[in-house]
This record gives sequence, structure tokens and C-alpha cells, in this order.
Amino acid sequence: MHLPHTPSAFLWRYVKLFRGQFICLVAFMLIWALNESLFPYFLKLFVEGVTHVDPAGSLWENFKFPIVGITVCWLTMEIAMRLSGVISYYLYPAFRAKMREDTFDWVKDQSVDYFSSNLAGSIGAKIADIPKSSHQIIDHFIWYVIAIFFVFVSSIVVVAQASFVFTALITLWCATHMGITFYYLEEVQSKSSDHYESIATLNGETVDIINNASSMKFFSRVGFETQRIKTFQATEIKKSKSATWAIQKVDFFRGFAALCFMLTTISLLLKGWKDGWLSVGDFPLVAMTSFNLLGLIWHMSMTLVDIFQDIGILRGSLSLLRHEHSVQDKPTALEISVPYGEIEFKNVVFGYRKNMPLFSGLSVRIKALEKVGLVGFSGSGKTTFVNLILRAFDIGSGEILIDGQNIANVTQASLREHVTLIPQDTNLFHRSVKENLTYGNLNATDEEIEAAARKAHCHGFIQKLENGYDTVVGERGLKLSGGQRQRLAIARAFLKNTPILLLDEATSALDSETEKDIQVSLLELMANKTTLIVAHRLSTLKHMDRILVFDKGQIIEEGSQKELLKKGGHFAHLWSLQHEGFLPDKE
Ligand SMILES: Nc1ncnc2c1ncn2[C@@H]1O[C@H](COP(=O)(O)OP(=O)(O)O)[C@@H](O)[C@H]1O
Ligand SMILES: [Mg+2]
Repeated sequence: MHLPHTPSAFLWRYVKLFRGQFICLVAFMLIWALNESLFPYFLKLFVEGVTHVDPAGSLWENFKFPIVGITVCWLTMEIAMRLSGVISYYLYPAFRAKMREDTFDWVKDQSVDYFSSNLAGSIGAKIADIPKSSHQIIDHFIWYVIAIFFVFVSSIVVVAQASFVFTALITLWCATHMGITFYYLEEVQSKSSDHYESIATLNGETVDIINNASSMKFFSRVGFETQRIKTFQATEIKKSKSATWAIQKVDFFRGFAALCFMLTTISLLLKGWKDGWLSVGDFPLVAMTSFNLLGLIWHMSMTLVDIFQDIGILRGSLSLLRHEHSVQDKPTALEISVPYGEIEFKNVVFGYRKNMPLFSGLSVRIKALEKVGLVGFSGSGKTTFVNLILRAFDIGSGEILIDGQNIANVTQASLREHVTLIPQDTNLFHRSVKENLTYGNLNATDEEIEAAARKAHCHGFIQKLENGYDTVVGERGLKLSGGQRQRLAIARAFLKNTPILLLDEATSALDSETEKDIQVSLLELMANKTTLIVAHRLSTLKHMDRILVFDKGQIIEEGSQKELLKKGGHFAHLWSLQHEGFLPDKE
């Protein structure tokens, strides 16, 4: 489902979804606005009552009309406000939740590559900003723009009862005030968004320092970071001053216009009373309405800056939705079925950038249950090869077949249910060990979890953790060592237990003791599975049926370790460069 990309179309979509509630909200707001403009009229009746009091009648008889009027008015307004509160109580949380769900829905279908090339923090902030700014824009628009405009219209109608002169005067002042506001709006808006940016940068920098707190401490760079943050803080202060100054400047002109308006109103009131075209009651009517409008319209023009600011934020955040999904299921996509686990690349053309193919016509077949090692210098395309099997990217031309089915024609979900990848760095959720393990199989029982953990040689260290299997592993699993994280990944793969297994082998994280354990676990895991391992470790390669030697996106040699060594080609060259049991990453 495509969501609209522009703020107006996006907001309209959700307002329409909740139209019944929004209509009620606006109706209650109109009742409030109408009453707001009627109060000065009742005040006029009071004052006129005082000046023309009938000595024979009681107070009630003299003032019953304004008393009843003002009470009814107030009660109606109270009821309207409380009802609008009830509606907001139900409306806004649902309104925000729907937006957040839809946005998340869109983002989650992005390709794996999208997430590795966009900062998680920035995606998260945008998902949070969309509902927040939308709520504010709509709420401000209803209560400050529509409501105050309505108060304005009804007030000038009420004031016209006294004299059209005041209607004209109020309209003139309003036009001047809004003219000044719009004349400077661009400047105020750009300065406040500069200020907003500088706050965002400052926050981003602070978060970056916290993320790298251990480096800061161990490199003894606390003072350096304090100094560095000060420069961002200084920018923030400068931008804040500049934004405040821009607002002060507009306020100066608006203030001057307001002063002229009030002085003219008072002079005209006095003159009208002296010349006899105004009654005593018109004094409070006109004065109160004018003061009231002065405050409201001033408020509205301040809020306009917020509204435009939020529109800017919303427009920025909606960039999330402008990014098309690069890997999509075809409408006709079926579930894949993988009874054997044979993988075949047929003339695969793929490149990360246009006109720069990494694979230009790669063909290779991996038999069911075969154990294949991928070797080659860094950048030769091993990780890409493995990722293409999971359809992390769509290929330019050619086919990738699993048990004869083109992976571009099946659902991504079913494909990934049948393939397990253990990546080079194991990322864990900030959840318990158990939750991280069952990610491979949500229905695994405690016994199955423990059995998998034992097979992966991690039961021992898990038991020694603070809360055993319930220990929360820390953000990205940072509370565990690299080797421990990798063993959890292997346990998780045992639980997922798919016919195809892909490993982007880590070379550095393991000490030799752990490595031996992992070696045993891996062999067990690989049994009865088609397995591809990107391998640097000679001890791993020893167990492979076949080795594919990658160079600049091509498979330049293939065969068993023995055959390749005998051949004396690229693999033999890599072999000659081996160091402490590892093939080199680069020459
Ligand atoms: N996400 C990506 N976007 C752009 N280029 C990439 C990306 N991933 C890898 N590459 C490039 O593709 C080439 C092959 O990379 P990779 O498959 O990671 O090699 P290997 O795993 O053999 O080290 C390299 O030149 C690398 O810079
Ligand atoms: Mg790699």
C-alpha cells in the first residue's frame, strides 16, 4: 500500500479516516467560538441595565435577560469543551497509532540494504515525528486557525450592532497584523528551523559520544569531548538568539499596530459617545471584543510559526515514505518449497551501482547437502553472493534457483524461512538470551532451547550469567563477548533448522579454545544441510566438499582443497600467504 508523500495529502488521508470524530470536534469548537463572541454582548446588556434600571422592579426583573443569557452561554461552552475533550481522548491516540502503524508497515518492507545504509536513529526519529507533528498540526489548525477565524467573523458581526466603524477598524487591524506576520513568516520560520536543526545536531553528537563512551574514557578524551560539545552548544545558542530576535522584530511591528488600533478604538468610542451615536453599553461591547480579538489573533499568528515548523518536520519525516521498496514480492508470488536444498546461479548479473557490475554472468550450481567454502580477498564478492541467495537485492538479469524455483518468483518470507544466515557480526536484540534464541523458532520449548544451546556450546556460559536464560544481553548484545554472541547465533540456527545454511565466518572474534568448540558445533549444525561458508580458517576449509575461489566478482577456480593446491593457481597463492591457520584478507 502506498501512502501519500506530501504533508497535505498525508494529513488529509488520516483526517478522512477519522472524519466523523473530526467533524464533531470542529462542531464543538464552533460552539465555543460562538459563545466567546457573545459574552461582550451580555456585558453590554448589563451595563445598559444599570443605566436604565427600573426602580420599581427587582434586580432579577431588571437583569434576568443578561443573567440567563450569560449562564446558558457559559454552560453551553463548558459542555462543548468537555465533549471535545472526550472526543480528543479517543481520537488522537488512535489517529497517531494508525499513522505510526502504517509508516512502520512501509518501512519494515524495505530491503535489508536500506537498513544498512540508513542510520537506525534517524529512521526511528522519523517514525516518531510523523504522528507527533501531524497531531500538532491538526490540533493547532482546528483550535487556532479555524476557531479564531470563526471568533473573528462572529465578533465583527456582534460589533456591527454598535457601529460598522468598529467592524471596519477591527478588520483593518487584523489585515495589518496578518500582513506583518506573513511578511516576516519566511524569516521567522527559517530561523526557527535553523535552531531546530542545531538542537538535533547537538543531540545527535551527544548520543554519538554516549555510544562511544568507552572509547572516550579509555582514550582519555573526556576533556576533548566536553570542548567539542561546547562548540555545538555555542552554535545552538547563536541560532536560538537569532530565532528569538526574528520573533522580537515582528512583535515590535505587530505591537505598534496593536497600540495604534487600541488608541483609535478608545478615541472613536469617546467620540461616538459624545456625538451620541454610541450607547453606554457599546463601550464594554466594543472594548471587550477588541481586547479579546487582540489576544486571540496574536496567539494565532504565533501558532502559525509552530504550524509551519511542524509542516516542515512532517515533510522531512515523510521522506521515509518517498523511498520505494527495492525488493518486492510479485503479486503472483507463491511459497517456496525446499525438499532438497539445491542452489543454482544462472548467468547472474548484479552490481551495486549502475554500469558497474560485480557479477557479470555468474553461473554455479551447489548440489543438495553439499558443503561449499567461499574464499577470496576482501571485496571479491563473497558476502554479496551469500546475500543474493536470501534475496537481499534483486539481480539485474539471470536467475537464482533453489530446488528449481526462481527466488524472484516466490515470497521473501517463505524463502527466508528455509535459509539461515549467520552473519559476520552477530547482532542481538536488547532482550533476554532466551528471546534471542527463540528468534529462530518462536515455538521452541525450553527443552529444545537448552538442547540447541548445549549443541552450540553456549549452555555453560549462559548458566553462569546473572539470570541464566533470562539475562538481558544489552544493546546489540554488547554485554557478551564476540565468541559468545557467535555461539548464540549458532544455537539460534540449530533452532531454526533449515535445509540451507549460509555462514559469513567471523575470523577475529574467537580465541583458539572457543574456535575448537565452535568447529565441533558447526560440523553438527551443517550435517544434513546444504552449507555455504565464507571461510578464512583453514581448519574449516578442510571439511568442505568443494571450494569456490572468488576474485573480482568471478569464480576463477573450484575444486577440493587438494585439487586446488595441486593446480597451483590463485588458491595455492592464497594458501602460501596463510598466517596462523588463516587465509589472508588482502594481498
Ligand atoms: N551495500 C553495498 N553497497 C555498495 N557496494 C557494496 C555493498 N556491499 C558491498 N559492496 C561492494 O561490493 C564489492 C564486493 O563486496 P563483498 O561482497 O562484501 O565482498 P567480500 O565479502 O568478498 O569481502 C566490494 O567492492 C564492496 O565495496
Ligand atoms: Mg564479506
